[in-house]
Amino acid sequence: MQALILAGGRGTRLRPLTVYTPKPIVPMLNRPFVLYQIEMLREAGIYDITLSLSYQPDKIELLLGNGAEHGVSLRYITEPMPMGTGGAYKFAAGGFRETTIVLNGDILTDLDLKKMVRSHAGKKADATIAVYRVEDPTRYGLVKTDEDGKVIGFVEKPDSDIGINTINAGIYILEPTILDLIAKDENLSFEYDVFPEILKRNLAFYAFFFKKEYWKDIGTPESYWRAHMDMLEGKLARLREDDAGPDAPDVATHATVDKSSVIGKNCTVKPGAVVSNSVLGEGVLVEERAIIENAVIWPYTRISVAAEIRDSVIGKSCHVGRNASIGSGSVIGDKSTLTDYTRV
Ligand code: GDD
Ligand code: MG
Repeated sequence: MQALILAGGRGTRLRPLTVYTPKPIVPMLNRPFVLYQIEMLREAGIYDITLSLSYQPDKIELLLGNGAEHGVSLRYITEPMPMGTGGAYKFAAGGFRETTIVLNGDILTDLDLKKMVRSHAGKKADATIAVYRVEDPTRYGLVKTDEDGKVIGFVEKPDSDIGINTINAGIYILEPTILDLIAKDENLSFEYDVFPEILKRNLAFYAFFFKKEYWKDIGTPESYWRAHMDMLEGKLARLREDDAGPDAPDVATHATVDKSSVIGKNCTVKPGAVVSNSVLGEGVLVEERAIIENAVIWPYTRISVAAEIRDSVIGKSCHVGRNASIGSGSVIGDKSTLTDYTRV
């Protein structure tokens, strides 16, 4: 079985974080996000993984290489222009005809994919879609099923509440019969084009429900930040690797860094600073008496004396001035400079 990770979107809703970093490699607990997906596939025994790219493809390829370091074989297909999720699948498949597991590249989950593969085989399905229940389904594709779990309706982000809260979790297993429904070299979407076509043809299209596992689309700043908080809280303990890097961070004796925080390599935390429930990327400098709480700070950012950052995400190589105060829900893009005493 092959895997395809759809990693070509522009990540517009995650701006400004995706201006210089494509969504698949935004750091999640200091590791490129897509590595969690690669590991999930590897754990299910799937080693042949294609990344379908379009936006800033070189950055992704350079970072991940051929996959050997992660125990898989990675292949990259870059679309000449975005082809939509369904078009990307057809384009990436080329001449291949093999069962393929397709992942949206922004899904964080600890689902055991082997269970889904078994369900797909058991139903002899042409297509299986993972389905999750959420409280607010408005941002998602909605999946309607009959009592056997057969998909009987699919509506992508309807304008009004249609009384369904079972959503497309962005994981599909597809047989080559689905490739035949997709025209070559066209911009087509699974959600708007391919799934309706599967339903029209009454193919064996089944839902795979899961609910005990964690699931989140990290494609907005709020959900990206929330996923970090969930990780720090231990909700995804299974996915966390040993956080201690080879270089112990330089934390001053009179600084406080709590146990739930994750500190990247070569960070410096100066006396009197407090870091709690936060993630500091590599090379972050936290100066005297700064307070960092429930925050995600990307590499090489400097937080100056007595600045306070709470419930926020700060991009790479920023300079937060002395006594600046960055409050709830702020998202600061890479290379920003915030003058001393700024309030956001
Ligand atoms: N290669 C390629 N080419 N990838 C693409 C393209 C494209 O043209 N367009 C989008 N993608 C990738 C994105 O990078 C992302 O990983 C994935 O496809 C889904 O795109 P999003 O833009 O994140 O979609 P969404 O979050 O609004 O909705 C999708 O995900 C929901 C679950 O999180 C839909 O599949 C919904 O039905 C679903 O509920
Ligand atoms: Mg998404």
